[in-house]
Amino acid sequence: LLYILYITSPQMCLSTPLVGVVMVDYGPSWRDHRRFALMTLRNFGLGKNSMEERIHGEIKHIINTLEKNIGKILSPQVMFHNAASNIICQVLFGTRYEYDDEFIREIVRCVRENSKLANGPWAMLYDSFPMIHNLPLPFTKAFRNVERGSDGSSFSEEQLIIYSLDLHFAGTDTTSNTLLTGFLYLMTNPHIQERCQQEIDRVLVGKDRVGFDDRHNMPYMQAVTHEVQRIANTVPLSVFHCTTKDTELMGYSIPKGTIVIPNLTSVLNEEGQWKFPHEFNPENFLNDQGEFVKPEAFMPFSAGPRMCLGEGLARMELFLIMVTLLRKFKFIWPEDAGEPDYTPVYGITQTPKPYHMKVQLRATQ
Ligand code: HEM
Repeated sequence: LLYILYITSPQMCLSTPLVGVVMVDYGPSWRDHRRFALMTLRNFGLGKNSMEERIHGEIKHIINTLEKNIGKILSPQVMFHNAASNIICQVLFGTRYEYDDEFIREIVRCVRENSKLANGPWAMLYDSFPMIHNLPLPFTKAFRNVERGSDGSSFSEEQLIIYSLDLHFAGTDTTSNTLLTGFLYLMTNPHIQERCQQEIDRVLVGKDRVGFDDRHNMPYMQAVTHEVQRIANTVPLSVFHCTTKDTELMGYSIPKGTIVIPNLTSVLNEEGQWKFPHEFNPENFLNDQGEFVKPEAFMPFSAGPRMCLGEGLARMELFLIMVTLLRKFKFIWPEDAGEPDYTPVYGITQTPKPYHMKVQLRATQ
């Protein structure tokens, strides 16, 4: 695998770029937790059909919001964050919240704030120097936002709350920031938006709504959703891990207890792996016959045994939401919005800078 890992450890006191993958043995307790989470998600409806229903149910609320704003200038941030939050809330709690509900607005605000705090310089210092753990650092606000606590058992009520928060955190900011990036690029590349709409109109003719299986007949739309994920680079440093035993990798010895930080930015922009590594271009996922192809370097969900548990759900959300909205609406970069700024705001999850969009109903509707 072409995968650049930056290994940092207190012993090395420096960062060493390496190519390869470190095999980390996470131990039986981690495996039990992951199996438990997967089983629970499946039982509670992460299966394909019920998830499609839930996603389409939430899309209706996005459409309502957009319809109220036809011809107006709209800020899509809260709408997409709450939509992604609602989809995971329905899996976890069987309920959704209105987009102006104060409770969920506050939860989503905490999630977004923590995503920025937890990869910031204070968090890096906190991780590296255990002796500063008791100092009142600005970063410790992240703990107050989460209010963690556990009696050590994996099946306590406290632990259940933590699992739910983890899944809510993992499933909200990631999907919504990817969607925000997608619509930013589709608005500012109208020729790509139009080509998506032509394919959607052709493939869905006579159908009420899109199904996830329709992706097999939509190579261009598939290429666009994947290119959005590549360029969004939503989780740039994946999730940090730690070697549980001494490990040998391509001549480097990595001692037990080393923090391993995967650098997904590198692999998603690697020259030699992509036809157009530094620009938004769906051709990165199309071959000469216009068929969809997925290069091995596409790993926004990371790789290995701990790769994203919600990949299936996330891919379904991105496809169904983007196709449904593009079928119904035209998204326009407002005339007075100036030049688009694509520079992301860095964090555990990267976010596009806040922007506005103008929405029109499509002529075919
Ligand atoms: C575009 C959307 C998403 C992206 C780019 C993304 C990306 C990632 C990445 C890079 C990791 C770290 C993997 C590793 O540690 O090696 C991860 C972990 C995880 N993701 Fe996602 N994710 C997305 C959506 C979701 C959704 C919708 C869920 C909902 C359930 C989810 C649940 C999780 C969980 C539970 C983990 C931790 C898995 C573990 O530690 O074993 N993710 N994700």
